[in-house]
Amino acid sequence: MMPPILATAVGQKSQVRSMNSALLPNYGHPDLEFDHGRGSYLFTDDGQRYLDFAMGIAVNSLGHCHPALVAALTEQARKLWHTSNLFRIKQSERLAQNLVRRTFADRVFFCNSGAEAVECGFKLIRRYHYSKDQPQRNRIISLSGSFHGRTLATIAAAANPGHCDGFVVGDGGFDQVEFADIDSLRQAIDERTAGIIIEPIQGESGIKVVPGDYLGAVRELCDQQDIVLMFDEVQCGVGRSGTLYAYQHYGISPDILASAKGLGGGFPIGACLTIEKLSITMTPGSHGSTFGGNPLAMAVANAVIDEISQDEFLAELAANSDYFRAELAVLVEAYPQLLSGISGLGMMIGLQCRIDSMELIARLRDNKMLVVKAGGNSIRIMPPLNVGRGEIEEALEILSSVLKAW
Ligand SMILES: Cc1ncc(COP(=O)(O)O)c(C=O)c1O
Repeated sequence: MMPPILATAVGQKSQVRSMNSALLPNYGHPDLEFDHGRGSYLFTDDGQRYLDFAMGIAVNSLGHCHPALVAALTEQARKLWHTSNLFRIKQSERLAQNLVRRTFADRVFFCNSGAEAVECGFKLIRRYHYSKDQPQRNRIISLSGSFHGRTLATIAAAANPGHCDGFVVGDGGFDQVEFADIDSLRQAIDERTAGIIIEPIQGESGIKVVPGDYLGAVRELCDQQDIVLMFDEVQCGVGRSGTLYAYQHYGISPDILASAKGLGGGFPIGACLTIEKLSITMTPGSHGSTFGGNPLAMAVANAVIDEISQDEFLAELAANSDYFRAELAVLVEAYPQLLSGISGLGMMIGLQCRIDSMELIARLRDNKMLVVKAGGNSIRIMPPLNVGRGEIEEALEILSSVLKAW
C-alpha cells in the first residue's frame, strides 16, 4: 500500500503542477521576481527598486554586479570555462595561495557550495584518525542550533528534525551538545570522538555569536585529546563579521574551515581550508569534484578576496557596521514592545523581535526593503559589505517608519 504522504502527493499532482512549475516543491511558492541588480539594489522588470539587505542570504558580498567581479568573470569567460582537475588550473592555485597567505591554513580544496565544503571537512576529520590506525575515532560533535547544509551528512550533523526526518538513517555518526556549554561538550567527548564542528556565529538559528572564552576552551580540549576542530564559516566568513574570517576576532584558529557563499560574491563556490597534518591524508583519488576549482569561479573569488582583504575596505566596513548597529540599538530602545535586541558582529546582524518576525519581513518588503528570516523569532540583516552610508540611512528610515506604524 502507498504510504499516506505519497498518496496525498499523488492526489495533489495536478494541483501542484498548476501552480506554475515543474520545479520540486521544496521552496514554497515565491511570488517576487527580479530582473537585474546593481550594488545594494534589486529591480523588478516593471522598474520597482528594492533595497537588498538579504544579499542572497549573505552571498553577494560586494552587492550586485560589482564592476571588478563582472570584469573578472567576463574576461575569464572569453578565455576558458572548464577543463577539470585532470589539468592544472592556475586560477585555483592563485586563490589557494591568496587564502593561505591570509589565514591559518596550509592547503585548500575547492568545491561548489557550502555543504560540499563542510563535507570535505568531515572527510578530513575521519581520514585523519583513520590514517593514524584509529578508524573507531569517527564521531563528530556539533552544537545545538547549528546549520551546516542540506546533504545527508550535513543535516545529520545539525540534527534539526525538520531537516532530518525521512532522510537520515540513525545518527549518521554525529553527537550534539548544548550551544556554547563547555560542560555539555566535556561530557559528550569519548574515545570515539574525532572532531568538533562549530559556526563561530550561528546564522540560521538567529545570529548567535559563540563566546570567545568558549572557543578558547574548546581549542584547549581539542589540543589535549587530538580532536580536530572545524569552523563552519560558510555564512559568517569572507568579511561578513568585519574580519576576513570570524575566527580572526578571537585569535583562535581551527584545523579546518569551511567557506562558501560570500567567497564567490554570487558565483557558486565552496572552499575547505586546512592544515598540513590533515591535508596529507587526502592522497590522490581520495576526494574530488568535477567543477571544483573551475576557472570562472576562481577568477571571481580571487577578485572578491583582493577587494575585501584590503585594510581600507575592512576599516570602512567596521566604521559602517558600527554606525549601523548603534542606530539599530537606538531603534530597539525606542520600540521595546516590538523588538528585544540586536546580535551578531560586523554586517551579520540579527534583530530579535517581540512581534512576529515573518510579519515584520513582509511589511519591510512592502516598503521595498529585503531582509531574511532567522530562528528564534528574529530577522537577519545582511547588507553588502561595501554598502554606502546613504543606503544604511535608507534602511534605518524604512525600519523606523514600519515600526512606528506597527
Ligand atoms: C553555516 C552554513 N553552513 C553551510 C551552509 C550550506 O551552504 P550551501 O547552501 O551553499 O550548501 C549554509 C547555508 O546557508 C550555512 O549558513
